[in-house]
Amino acid sequence: MQVFDASHSLVEQLSKETQPIGMVPTMGALHLGHLSLIKKALSENKTVLVSIFINPTQFDDKVDLENYPINIEADLRKIEQLTGQIFVYAPKVNDIYGKLVTSKSFDLGGLDQVMEGEKRSGHFQGVATIVWHFLKIFNPTRAYFGEKDFQQLRIIEHIAQSLKLRTKIISCPIIREKSGLAMSSRNTLLSTSERKLAAKIFEGLKFAKSNAKKESYGTLKKMVMDFFKKYDELNLEYFTVADPKTLKEVDLKKTIDSGRGFIAVHLGKIRLIDNLDIP
Ligand code: PAJ
Repeated sequence: MQVFDASHSLVEQLSKETQPIGMVPTMGALHLGHLSLIKKALSENKTVLVSIFINPTQFDDKVDLENYPINIEADLRKIEQLTGQIFVYAPKVNDIYGKLVTSKSFDLGGLDQVMEGEKRSGHFQGVATIVWHFLKIFNPTRAYFGEKDFQQLRIIEHIAQSLKLRTKIISCPIIREKSGLAMSSRNTLLSTSERKLAAKIFEGLKFAKSNAKKESYGTLKKMVMDFFKKYDELNLEYFTVADPKTLKEVDLKKTIDSGRGFIAVHLGKIRLIDNLDIP
C-alpha cells in the first residue's frame, strides 16, 4: 500500500502500474461495506486506487460535515490488511477545491430531483463534481460503488454514460450487520440503544417487500408509515418505491410489479438511508 496526497505524483505513478486499474472512492471511516468494494476491485483489477476524501460540497448540512467520523490511521490499517497492489489517495480539502476543482452544475437527467436530491439540496451536484474529477484525472478501467447509496450509483452511471467516460461503473451489494442494519460510517455516531432501534429500518423494508403483492402501493405506503409510528424515536422522512432505472415513483393505485423501496429515517441527530428491491 502506498499513500499519496498529491494527485500529480499519483497520476505519474499509476501510469507505470499494470492495467486494469479499479478505483473505489470513499469518505473514509471504513467499514466492511467499503472493504467489500475494495476486495471486489482487487479481484477484478491488477491495481486498485482507494480515495479517502470527505467532500465538503456534498454536505447540505454544516453540522453533519463537522460531525462526520474521521479515522485515517485505522482506515490505512484496514487497507493494509488486504492483499494486492493498492494506492490510497487522501488529498486535503484546500488542494482539491480552489486549486483542482470548482463546483460544477451537471445535467443529472432529473435523477437528482427526488428522494435524497429533494431532501438534500445540492448534494448530488457535489457528489457528481468530485466523482467526475476523480474519474477524469485517474481514468480508471472500473470504479466501484455500493447499492447502499442506490440513487448516487444511478446518478454516477448517468454521468459516466452521458459524459462518455471510459470507466465502467460497477455496482456492489449492500453489506449489513447481523441485525440487518446497513453498514454506514454514520452508524458509529449512534448510541447502543439507537443502533438496536436502527435495525427496524431494514425490518420496515422487509415488511414492505412481504406485503407488496397483497396491496396497492398507496396502501403499502400507509402501512409502512404506520409500521414506523410504533417507534417514537424513529422519524420516517420518506418511504418511496421507485423504478430502479428512472427513480420515478411507481403508481400509487397499482400493486408493485418491480421496483426498489427507498427509505430515509431520522434517529436522534443521525439520518440513515437504506433500500431494498420490491417485491
Ligand atoms: P462513502 O459514504 O464513504 O461510501 C463509499 C462507497 O461505499 C459508496 O459507493 C457507498 O455506496 C459504499 N458503501 C457504503 N456503505 C456500504 C454498505 N453497507 N454496503 C455496500 N457498499 C457500501 O458515498 C460516498 O462515500 C461519497 O458520496 C463518494 C462517492 C465517495 C463521493 O464523495
